[in-house]
Order: sequence, then C-alpha cells, then structure tokens
Amino acid sequence: MNISVIGAGYVGLVTGACLAEIGHHVICLDVNKEKVEMLKSGKSPIYEPGIDDLLQKTTQSGHLSFTTDYPVACEKAEVIIIAVGTPSRPDGSADLSALQDVAEKIGFHARHDGPIIVTKSTVPVGTNRKIRSWLNTHQTGKFRIASNPEFLREGSAIHDTFNGDRIVIGAEEEETAKRLEEMVAPFGVPILHTSIESAEMIKYSSNAFLATKISFINEIANLCEKLGANVEDVAKGMGMDQRIGSSFLQAGIGYGGSCFPKDTNALVQMAGEMEHDFELLESVIHVNAKQQVKLVQMAKKRFKDLKGKRAGLLGLSFKPNTDDIREAASMEMINLLLDEGVQVTVYDPVAQENVKSILGSRVIYADHCFEAIEDQEMLFIATEWEEFKVLRLKTISKLMENPILFDGRNCFSVEEAEGAAIDYYSIGRPAVIHSVLKTPHSE
Ligand code: UDX
Repeated sequence: MNISVIGAGYVGLVTGACLAEIGHHVICLDVNKEKVEMLKSGKSPIYEPGIDDLLQKTTQSGHLSFTTDYPVACEKAEVIIIAVGTPSRPDGSADLSALQDVAEKIGFHARHDGPIIVTKSTVPVGTNRKIRSWLNTHQTGKFRIASNPEFLREGSAIHDTFNGDRIVIGAEEEETAKRLEEMVAPFGVPILHTSIESAEMIKYSSNAFLATKISFINEIANLCEKLGANVEDVAKGMGMDQRIGSSFLQAGIGYGGSCFPKDTNALVQMAGEMEHDFELLESVIHVNAKQQVKLVQMAKKRFKDLKGKRAGLLGLSFKPNTDDIREAASMEMINLLLDEGVQVTVYDPVAQENVKSILGSRVIYADHCFEAIEDQEMLFIATEWEEFKVLRLKTISKLMENPILFDGRNCFSVEEAEGAAIDYYSIGRPAVIHSVLKTPHSE
C-alpha cells in the first residue's frame, strides 16, 4: 500500500518506519528541512531504542523515504496519516492550528478519488469532523476520514507497535475500516472498530485512567509515609487482584512526558466546554503537581534553609530510555532548588543537551554520574535510569560530603539503606536516618 505520514516527529517517524517494515511504501513528510535532510542521511532526530537500525533497513530497501514536498507525499498515497503535534494552549485546551494547516494542504494536493485521511495526533473529541471540512477548504474531494490513536510509550515505541494490546480504528464506512485493518493486520495486534468519536475518546480515557492510577498510588504512598506502611508491598498486594492489575502502580515523583500532562488537561478542558465538572481528573492533576516537587519540600524540611547548599541531581528525562524532558519532574525540582539558592549539579545519560538548551549555565553539568554525587551536601534521584540503580548506596555514601539521598523513584531498598552510612528518603516507605553524617544536621 502507498502510505504517507505527515509529521516526522516521534509518533510519525516510528509509525512510518514500522509500516515500512511490514512491507508498505511509506513517504514521511516534514516541513522542517534540516530534519528531513538528517533523516535522508540515515540519522534519527529522536532518541528511541532501535530506531536507527529500523530507519536504515527500511530506507535501504526502498520502503521508506522522506520529503518536505506536499505534492510528492500526496500524489500516490492511498492512505495519509496525520501525526503532527497538538500542543496545549495556556488554558489546557489543544492547539489545533498545525493540524488545520496540514488538513488544508492535504485537501489541496491529495488524489481526489477517495484517499483515507487518518488522524493519529491526539485530538479533542469531534476534531475529525472538523478535519473533513478543512480538507475541503480549497476544493471538494471525496475524502474518507478515520481516527487511529497511538498508544506508544517513548523508549519502547517500536516494541509497542508490534506487541501492542490493541489497535483502535474509528471510521464511518465499513469499507474504510476494512482497508485500514488490512494495512495494520501484519502487526498481529488485536483490532477494535469503533465510531470516530469513540476512537478519539479511547485515547484520552486511557491516558487519563493511567494518570489516575499513578496519582492514586502516589497519594497512598504519602499516606504510607505517615502511617508507617511500605507502598511497594501495598502496590504488590493491590496488583495481585486481577481487577486492579499490577502495572502503573509504581509510586514516585509523578508522571511527566508529552502525553499524560497534556491529555489530562485537555480532557478537563473538553469536559468544561460541555459544562461537565471533571473533579476526579482535576484532583489527579493537582496531586501530580504536588508530587513532582515533593523531594524538594522534604529537603527543605530536613535542612530548614537550603540557601548556599550544594545538591546533585541524577536523571533529567521524564522517564528512563528517552531524552525527552517535557513536563519532567526534574525540571520542576531544579527550578525550585535554584529559587532556594542551591547550587545544582545535574547528570543524565542522554537528556543533558536538551536541558542545556533551556537552563544554560544556571546549573552545572557533570560528565559522569559520580561527578554529580561527589562532595555534594544532598543528592536527588528524579529518573530511574539503570545506570543509577546499579550504584550501591555504600559507594554513594563514600562520595558525598553529607550522605543524604532523596530518591524519587525508589531505586534502592530500605534494607540496603539500613546497612549503609546514608540518610535515605524515598517515596511511600519509611525514611532511614542514621545520624552518622560527616557534618551533622538537625532534623
Ligand atoms: C504514555 C502512554 O503509556 C502511551 O500509551 C501513550 O500513547 C503516550 O503516553 P509515555 O508518555 O511514553 O506513554 O510514558 P509512560 O511509560 O506511560 O510513563 C508516563 C509517566 O508516568 C512517566 O513520567 C513515568 O515515570 C510515570 N509513571 C509510570 C509512574 O510514575 N508510575 C508508574 O507506575 C508508571
């Protein structure tokens, strides 16, 4: 099948490369010339495990190509997939201007004998109907529209494409749905057919539910700290109930990334437009905002005054195996620490450059994680990179001036902390205080 993907961002690129891998002829279009040149030269503009090999394989076999030119992308395409960003406006609603622009351009350049226009971008319920009218801005074509939301996780997006739990196809006509089913069938993932509106809603509801699970377990963790329970045992016990399930019950310093924060806000906004007060989701968002800065609040309680102190911070990306720092807890923490007058040294295996472009010289960048730990008066862990989890608390303790660790991702066990000369604060578990600090601090 001849397929075009508009938008070679994270979703568009992974989708295009995976469709090419199962034998389709795919053209990815992006308006960013530099990005397209980079892709043509075989380099990926995003960090994603396996993407470089997949791009190389599919471009060399002639199944995947890149362009900035709409006529080239639209000429032969039987299916055109829209995968452009729908960022949040200040009020939380989704900004659809890029989507409208793309739809109008497709309408102008696409074949007029019924190509299927598929929306992969996460869009408010009802947007696909608008897309139909945008497609017809310049001339009236016989477009068929469909919604095919993506459920890929950054860091395992290629694996998820081939091993997902479901593919949702929302379409008006049975024939359109059938054609799209044929397109994705080789992935071997269960397919659900729905109306366009239901498909759009499935994406928001799924992300909102997962965000709710995270905020729920984080609130339980906060309570565990006060009541002396251990949230990891609690989550294990809850997760053994199949009606609850064990995934997304990892307590920590909250969710970040390009999806959960944006989609939960957009759903609250959408509900508001329908005069529906989505109180539950508003609480989920509020709990997450508090959770992201929880470690700094703990440090403030511990030190009373943070001014002039030195802190190391390990992990900048919103989760491991990605360089994405959008809505990352680390950024909230750094800003707060800087406001408090703390000198912050950061380390991340891949996300450092992205932080540099935002914070510049306001923080110190370490080349190795030991450099961010050495001689610090306190240490924070914001992302559970494997590289940090294999460190031993005894090693961290020896490196620091004051061995005090605030672990936002529960990378170490309480037992290990009990056996190391380090004061260890984690999430939803008892704090381990030894009071054997090299320089004593009052509680
Ligand atoms: C998410 C959805 O999982 C995916 O289906 C959707 O298409 C895009 O949004 P992603 O943003 O890549 O994917 O990350 P995910 O792995 O879901 O994690 C999101 C955030 O939740 C991360 O900050 C992570 O640290 C946090 N999280 C996740 C927890 O705090 N606890 C958990 O138990 C799980």
